[in-house]
Amino acid sequence: MAMMRAAVCRDYGPPENVRIAIVEKPAPKADEVLIRIRASTVSSGDWRVRSLTVPKGMGLMVRAVFGFSRPRNPILGTELAGTVEAVGAAVTKFKPGDAVIGYPSFPNGCHAEYRPMRETDRIVPKPNALCFEEAAAMCFGGATALDFLRDRAKLKAGESALIVGASGALGSAALQLAKHFGARVTGVCSAANVELVRALGADRVIDYTAEDYRRGGECYDVIFDTVGEASFKTHEPLLQPGGRLLLLAAGLPEIISAIGRKRDGKRVFAGPAKETLEHLTTLSKLAGAGIYRPVIDQVFAFEHIAEAHARVASRRKRGSVVVTI
Ligand SMILES: NC(=O)c1ccc[n+]([C@@H]2O[C@H](COP(=O)([O-])OP(=O)(O)OC[C@H]3O[C@@H](n4cnc5c(N)ncnc54)[C@H](OP(=O)(O)O)[C@@H]3O)[C@@H](O)[C@H]2O)c1
Repeated sequence: MAMMRAAVCRDYGPPENVRIAIVEKPAPKADEVLIRIRASTVSSGDWRVRSLTVPKGMGLMVRAVFGFSRPRNPILGTELAGTVEAVGAAVTKFKPGDAVIGYPSFPNGCHAEYRPMRETDRIVPKPNALCFEEAAAMCFGGATALDFLRDRAKLKAGESALIVGASGALGSAALQLAKHFGARVTGVCSAANVELVRALGADRVIDYTAEDYRRGGECYDVIFDTVGEASFKTHEPLLQPGGRLLLLAAGLPEIISAIGRKRDGKRVFAGPAKETLEHLTTLSKLAGAGIYRPVIDQVFAFEHIAEAHARVASRRKRGSVVVTI
């Protein structure tokens, strides 16, 4: 039986619960490609699942999806960049040697040397403009930001957008995409990240350690909150008529109270992002054209993946934490 290295998390708990182990190497089915993973991210999603640190009211739901007493799939990791190692007999879109980006998202399994994916799943060719480390970080923040800003909020050129948490994986992607859509963007981050957020294209940067964006008297067409401090009740006054509040890290009470909420045409969107192949295709085109570039916080060697988890758990990462495999 062929074997491979994988990072396994057999119990919910601290970063040290993630250990490198030797497990069975998967073989591709007829409609699958087997990807030799070069890089993956430890995302805030991996941190949430590993530690069961979830927004208010989500604990039971997360256990139901990921496993009640321990992770059902002990191999975490939602996104990958690598090369196609082998293809099943029915595969037509990819061939061995192709450099690809894959986003299986929450069946996980990307913290390993190999992962099979159906050729019709969320896989796209890797744009040459991105190295494997950047390519591995294209999807988690990018697809979420694209779904919320473009598909739900329908952000238009000339509108104003406030990105709260502009230095994270979601925020740094949202900022670049909002600029691409022609919005005037204000980013909220700490002093340490002001330069980064400005370099990503923000028209205005608010350092939250010096200024409270809620007290500035400004209103926005779209507010994208990745920090989890906003609700329709607190942020509705900060929206222009017709404004959209996007709650990326909301707990169940906010999500429930968001359903159908409307005032002066103001709306609120919350809940898990929809992730599609079209999102990957769009992100990869934008990356290829130099319009979107994933931000990398730190790159860890695979054997140091527990340290990568600890870095994500600090909640201070800038963009994405990457592991090379
Ligand atoms: N709804 C969905 O489908 C979906 C999908 C993916 C992720 N999420 C959620 O989105 C959230 C963001 O994830 P992420 O991976 O981008 O990053 P993250 O690790 O949650 O955020 C890290 C960043 O947030 C900044 N930050 C922390 N407190 C802040 C504050 N009060 N104001 C402004 N910035 C602040 C930090 O910068 P400083 O060090 O400068 O403070 C750091 O750069 C997570 O809660 C995640 O679970 C939701």
